[in-house]
Amino acid sequence: MKTIGILTSGGDAPGMNAAIRAVVRSAIYYGCKVYGINRGYKGLLEEDLVEMNLSSVGDIIHRGGTILKSSRCEEFKTQEGRLKGVKVLKKYKIDCLVVIGGDGSFNGAQKLSELGFPAIGIPGTIDNDLAYTDYTIGFDTAMNTVADAISKIRDTSSSHERVNIVEVMGRHCGDLALYSGLAGGAETIIVPEVDFKVEDICNRLKTTQKRGKRHSIIVLAEGVGNANDLGKEIIKITGADLRVTVLGHVQRGGCPSVFDRILASRMGVRAVELLLDGKSAKVVGVKDNKIIDMDINEALSMTRSFDKETYEMAKILSI
Ligand code: F6P
Repeated sequence: MKTIGILTSGGDAPGMNAAIRAVVRSAIYYGCKVYGINRGYKGLLEEDLVEMNLSSVGDIIHRGGTILKSSRCEEFKTQEGRLKGVKVLKKYKIDCLVVIGGDGSFNGAQKLSELGFPAIGIPGTIDNDLAYTDYTIGFDTAMNTVADAISKIRDTSSSHERVNIVEVMGRHCGDLALYSGLAGGAETIIVPEVDFKVEDICNRLKTTQKRGKRHSIIVLAEGVGNANDLGKEIIKITGADLRVTVLGHVQRGGCPSVFDRILASRMGVRAVELLLDGKSAKVVGVKDNKIIDMDINEALSMTRSFDKETYEMAKILSI
């Protein structure tokens, strides 16, 4: 009988609970024992582990956040920290580990594999910034949260004939801004992958104002810069009545979408099957709606390509 450890690490994402549920339930189905490790790698180093059973994951598929809690752990970035982690895993007779998180969390899993400890990664982040997979768990829910916020801001923006900048998370990736901006009918979408000039945005505002359209939504990905600074520049050039909304952590919470729940369930089961097959140093992903797995080093070395086609289309539609 194998013993599997599971942890969530880095920024939480809606659907992480569904992934935990899938890992725990499928592992038990296949006759394994499962330890939940609280607060990510930090909890591992602090020996904060608890054995999980079927009911540990009851009633969580629809809940945001992560029942295992999450953290970012500096100590685990050191070789000393990781060796300490392996010691704890061995003490609890854990044979292999499932890590749910983003690229930082995957780096930890990669290093554990290098130390000979089998680890598999499941992508859980609202950023959708991992090149090897079409989607990460949490992205769809966050996208819907942002689109909903943009719709609400659009109402008041239209009533008051204002320009509104909405700052969206995503770190260095513009996906969240692009797709939620498109769905929210944003007039301008600014992402880190495409250069922009403030003057161009201002000219666009002036042109649409001349046409009689006095309100406008600008969606700004956080990886480009600060929405308040951009707002000040636009006011200086155009004198626009402008407001800024930084959506912040509301994007990370909430009930996961059906898409995220199903994705998380499929990925969780695949991760367990890989471990039972004796595989290590792998990440699970989705390509063309098929669950895939890939060598973790290969996955982490890939560069994400930006969906320029959709970006250009959004520009056409917001003419
Ligand atoms: O990686 C997820 C994410 O929400 C990013 O979009 C954002 O830049 C960052 O985490 C915020 O991190 P924290 O919750 O530590 O402030």
